[in-house]
Amino acid sequence: MKAILKHTYLLLPEQVNYSGYNKKFNVQENYIIFNKIFILYNWVGKISKRVEFITPPGIFDLNQRALLAWDLAKLMNISMPEIKLVPNDKILNFDQLAKNLKTSEFYDYNFILLSKYSGVQLEEYDFKRINMARLREIFVFDCWLGNLDKKDDDYLIDNKNKLWTIDYQLWGPIDNSGKSLGFCAKTYEINKDTLNRCIGRKTKKLILNKSKLSDFNEIIKRIRKLTNEQISERVNKYQFYKRGSDSEKINHILVVFLNERKKILEKQIIEYFNEKQSEKNQI
Ligand SMILES: Nc1ncnc2c1ncn2[C@@H]1O[C@H](COP(=O)(O)OP(=O)(O)OP(=O)(O)O)[C@@H](O)[C@H]1O
Ligand SMILES: [Mg+2]
Repeated sequence: MKAILKHTYLLLPEQVNYSGYNKKFNVQENYIIFNKIFILYNWVGKISKRVEFITPPGIFDLNQRALLAWDLAKLMNISMPEIKLVPNDKILNFDQLAKNLKTSEFYDYNFILLSKYSGVQLEEYDFKRINMARLREIFVFDCWLGNLDKKDDDYLIDNKNKLWTIDYQLWGPIDNSGKSLGFCAKTYEINKDTLNRCIGRKTKKLILNKSKLSDFNEIIKRIRKLTNEQISERVNKYQFYKRGSDSEKINHILVVFLNERKKILEKQIIEYFNEKQSEKNQI
């Protein structure tokens, strides 16, 4: 007899109320064989709310930024949960969620960004069980990308004490100003003051207390060694747009941005770290 194999995504009833600006929900990936359901993975689905309340408005490539960040994280061996885009009509029960939402508040409503469920939000009482080297790598990676929207709840910890980094929709350039996307979907210059936005408040304290400058060397070097080809190949898998436009491509700007940032990363981290340490010593 031929096995009837069906691959499905199932929207789970809302039990968890995830924090944050955007809409999140749990999705289960299953295989159904002979009417038996086998759970493959659990995912956290996300649809992004429009950010047109600020000028210039509209960013139409938020999901692409998340996908590129994942490719770059993979290249750098940074633990970020796998992500993928899935059409909402592939998700069983999605209508249940849709009927309670004002769909016009969201950007791309047809595609859902799924992030593989990887742990619970990192809390202060978890700090003693995380690997500091991994936290430093995530920090330097976020500085490289210009991820100026980092918060303490953008780290997860799993039951093997592994640290994960999430939430990569607001980062990088939206035009050729050299500024990078961050908190509240605004753009910021990247310097020793704004690097503060690349780490959560509590995680910053931890990193400053438990690190010396040389601890950052290895990951800084690893990023600097990336070639233009490695970067452009990944950027050009996707399409990035100038803010406010869903047609004017800025892929070349992202490539230049990542290449330039990898060269000045070391100097910026040294400036940032030294300033924070001297502030600490004055208290
Ligand atoms: N892959 C995942 N595994 C487990 N939990 C997750 C995952 N992705 C998101 N979450 C949970 O959802 C919360 C919010 O996720 P995320 O930061 O991506 O959303 P957000 O709406 O962009 O938040 P904010 O706007 O506040 O930054 C996380 O703090 C975490 O608790
Ligand atoms: Mg977040």
